[in-house]
Amino acid sequence: MQQTPIPAPHAALKSVDPNFSGVWPIDLSLSQRSHWVGNYFEDIGLDDPLAELWDEFAESWDDLEEDRFMADGGKYRRRRFSEFRYNVKTDTLRVLKHLPFFQSADLNTLNGGVDRKFSPVTPYIASHPITAAMIRQHAQVFARVTGHDRWAINFHQVRITALADMTGKPAPEGMHKDGVTFTTLFCIQRKNTAGAENLMFDNDKQPIFSTTLQRAGDIVIFEDDAFYHDVTPMTPANPNEAAQRDMLFIEFTRC
Ligand SMILES: [Fe+2]
Repeated sequence: MQQTPIPAPHAALKSVDPNFSGVWPIDLSLSQRSHWVGNYFEDIGLDDPLAELWDEFAESWDDLEEDRFMADGGKYRRRRFSEFRYNVKTDTLRVLKHLPFFQSADLNTLNGGVDRKFSPVTPYIASHPITAAMIRQHAQVFARVTGHDRWAINFHQVRITALADMTGKPAPEGMHKDGVTFTTLFCIQRKNTAGAENLMFDNDKQPIFSTTLQRAGDIVIFEDDAFYHDVTPMTPANPNEAAQRDMLFIEFTRC
């Protein structure tokens, strides 16, 4: 069996066994602990032809549109959203006809209960080989862990901006669940940002661990049913410049 070294345990993640080797560490973590923290490029990675496309993929976060469905009136969030289906067994990936994004008011107490008409990801990103590679890689892990082949995927590109006089709120709804099977939080880039710490809680809302996604590819994957999650507000580290946090959220639900 091919063995992959387990990634260095995150300082705040006490549950990782650094001596383990045997199966892919993401599979192990998700099957036994329901979460995994690491860096995508160091621990999963893109093959060479795709790695060369990373910069243009990341630059697409410059082309997001204002989120006009912020019940707090916030102007700090820009985004695009599309929905995909992927079948691991047949390796079939398709993007769905664009529809509004809906969460119940129970799930999202701030912005839920209404159809939110976000702009779709551009055709360029919907058909980008990195988009496909990431969806495939994650779904293949989830298929190994759960034995389930068919996945509905919400693909969210999100940018939070903060200024000296405008705090950015990565999770304005506060502690919450996404209402999916697995969620991946993927850092595209983070500039001049103080705060924005990811907080994970158990189902009794007791804190389990926290981590700050700093570098491109820093990633948290978790089973939504096992946790509540939240992100602290963010401000500019240097108040004379804007803070910017670009994230990709990929949510997977069995279908
Ligand atoms: Fe969330």
